[in-house]
Amino acid sequence: MAKKSPTAIPMITSDEPRPLRIGLIGYGFMGRAHANAIHQAGHFFKTGRRPVLQAVCGRNEGNLVEFAKAWQVKSCETDWRKLVARADIDAVDICTPNDSHMEIALACVRHGKMILCEKPLALNGSQGEKMVHAVEKSKLPNLVWYNYRFLPAVSLAKNIVSSGELGKVFHYRANFLQDWTISAELPQGGAGLWRLDAAVAGSGVTGDLLAHCIDTARWINGEIVSVAAMTETFIKERVHTATGKKQAVKIDDACAFLARFENGSMAVFESTRYARGHKALYTFEINGERKSLAWDLHDLNRLSYFDHGVPSDRRGWSSIHCTDGDHPYAGKWWVPGLGLGYEHSFVHALYEFLRSLDAPKSERRYPDFRHALGTQYVCDAVLAAARTGKWVEVKQA
Ligand SMILES: NC(=O)c1ccc[n+]([C@@H]2O[C@H](COP(=O)([O-])OP(=O)(O)OC[C@H]3O[C@@H](n4cnc5c(N)ncnc54)[C@H](O)[C@@H]3O)[C@@H](O)[C@H]2O)c1
Repeated sequence: MAKKSPTAIPMITSDEPRPLRIGLIGYGFMGRAHANAIHQAGHFFKTGRRPVLQAVCGRNEGNLVEFAKAWQVKSCETDWRKLVARADIDAVDICTPNDSHMEIALACVRHGKMILCEKPLALNGSQGEKMVHAVEKSKLPNLVWYNYRFLPAVSLAKNIVSSGELGKVFHYRANFLQDWTISAELPQGGAGLWRLDAAVAGSGVTGDLLAHCIDTARWINGEIVSVAAMTETFIKERVHTATGKKQAVKIDDACAFLARFENGSMAVFESTRYARGHKALYTFEINGERKSLAWDLHDLNRLSYFDHGVPSDRRGWSSIHCTDGDHPYAGKWWVPGLGLGYEHSFVHALYEFLRSLDAPKSERRYPDFRHALGTQYVCDAVLAAARTGKWVEVKQA
């Protein structure tokens, strides 16, 4: 009897996805979130490109090697300029603090690299304008990681509003509440704490947290045209890690603003890092003529949905568990009922970027530099309104 040969594994053929070799700059919180997305995206989403974590850059060699081992990165660089110049890098993923986004992005354009940049786009609108000008002139694909839109429940909210189901939208409200900077002993500057140093962060909760709320709001409900705001810095001086001396704190610890959208709806936004008990309470609610929607990051797979069209004795808020095959992105993962998490938002963002590389521009479904500039303009207007105590018109991107 002839011996049975083992089942052959098909060889990789020429129609396999082409590698997209990504160079990651920064191995902190976002470095890990993105490395995870780069590893996962190709396994769950089919596109013409397979993301490869080609190199990682950071300034501390010991930490860098540890990160590279943990995430199977092929090589390391301690100078981002070298990474950006490398011929074996197709796209650069910027995961460094906000004050470096512009310089790195402009260098990427000079070296012809695609760019995936963390939010906020830059320290302010004028930096953002330079970045938009450069990427648009170069025609290099560019993405900003406003990741929350890519959660199934948030995408479903967008689809429901875009279909016109809500009727006229009256209200939009969003909060992003945390409590980790209440201690006066916390220094400003350094790993993670660069967020308290205005020179590095640009602003406090406005650029860090409200930028997310603004991106989601603009995506779902259209442009914001004017704002009135108040900010507060509760702890006026903190030791700076660079000097060891107390220095003025110039970030906004808390910010609340009112906004008017182009569609006539009105909005209330609030963010603080002084809401004791809240770690990352990002919520939004939209009230329309016929329906309302609400979402909460702490229960991120669910979209709350109220339909006034239901007979009055059956009316009430329902909670849609967005894990079914026909919910955005969910069908590519597990069976219905099994939830996704924060990390999946980054996988989905990367998937949208990868699929766009072989799709017409009109089919792009991710925020690019120009969109992020629009959000930056809203942040700038909010801070200007808080400074002046007046309503401020928002510059449109
Ligand atoms: N999309 C989101 O939900 C989200 C969440 C957190 C942070 N962010 C954004 O991501 C960016 C990074 O934030 P993070 O929380 O990861 O910060 P982090 O402090 O955890 O990490 C920053 C990393 O950048 C590195 N770095 C700093 N300067 C560098 C330089 N000159 N060269 C090379 N590496 C350098 C640091 O060593 C560190 O590895 C920020 O722009 C932030 O606003 C976005």
